[in-house]
Amino acid sequence: MKVINDPVAIQKLKQAERLVVLTGAGVSAESGIPTFRGEEGLWKKLSPEELASFEAFYNNTAVVSEWYQHRREIIHNTEPNPGHHALAELQKLAPTFDLITQNVDGLHQRAGSSDVVELHGNIMENYCVNCNLQYSQEEFDDIFRHNPNHIPHCYCGGLIRPNVVWFGEALPEESIEKAYQASKQSDVFLSVGTSAQVSPASNLPRVAKQNNSYLIEINKTVTAISDIVDLHLEGLSGEILPMFLDDYKLLRNDK
Ligand code: OAD
Repeated sequence: MKVINDPVAIQKLKQAERLVVLTGAGVSAESGIPTFRGEEGLWKKLSPEELASFEAFYNNTAVVSEWYQHRREIIHNTEPNPGHHALAELQKLAPTFDLITQNVDGLHQRAGSSDVVELHGNIMENYCVNCNLQYSQEEFDDIFRHNPNHIPHCYCGGLIRPNVVWFGEALPEESIEKAYQASKQSDVFLSVGTSAQVSPASNLPRVAKQNNSYLIEINKTVTAISDIVDLHLEGLSGEILPMFLDDYKLLRNDK
């Protein structure tokens, strides 16, 4: 079944030199990783202020560290889904391709995507807040396992935290700069599985649009940007992205 039927979309995709994709939690939902918002979302059951801020981590290190270990375990036991795989395949076909993600789960990389711009960090990485020493997941696990209080300390005495962006924190400068540049220069911009409610990531589709990019959204529902997109494809990203890839292959061959 075709998903790209719109004649303008076909033309735009045929001509596009730069394809930029922004993904959010929805793209990993079919792998079994909960999203943040919506009925089943994490923030419906847990408070972001109590878990996803530096203050929370500092005041409640054990609880926050345990929660991140729990999420790592979930991610460790999941696999990339057909949506992740389709995006990795798309990267090989598009003349210039940028994948920007708000996800911290690393599933795009596990599916074979490269040069992924991670706006919110990577949950599998940890570092010391005092001396900045980086810890691999294995090293962190080892420290965590041997620490009955579940308060992970670096050799220097500082606390070890996950390499994710918490509320109130700035995004990694290099990543957000790259993301803005790519969005500005995109010919077609795809927003997939994000509620587009958290800035600055949510500004990227708007920046793309202001620079005359053709905006496509893939989401199981309407979102904060649905009214400005040129094409809204409603459904599951794990189903739509593989169809999108098939259509893209055909139309690129048919120049
Ligand atoms: P949200 O949880 O806000 O939104 C997930 C979006 O995915 C919603 O619009 C859903 O409709 C959609 N969705 C769910 N399952 C889907 C599926 N199978 N196929 C297609 N769409 C689906 O997640 P994000 O937009 O990624 O930040 O949230 C942005 C940021 O807010 C996160 O990175 C996180 C959170 O606070 C930090 O932790 C810094």
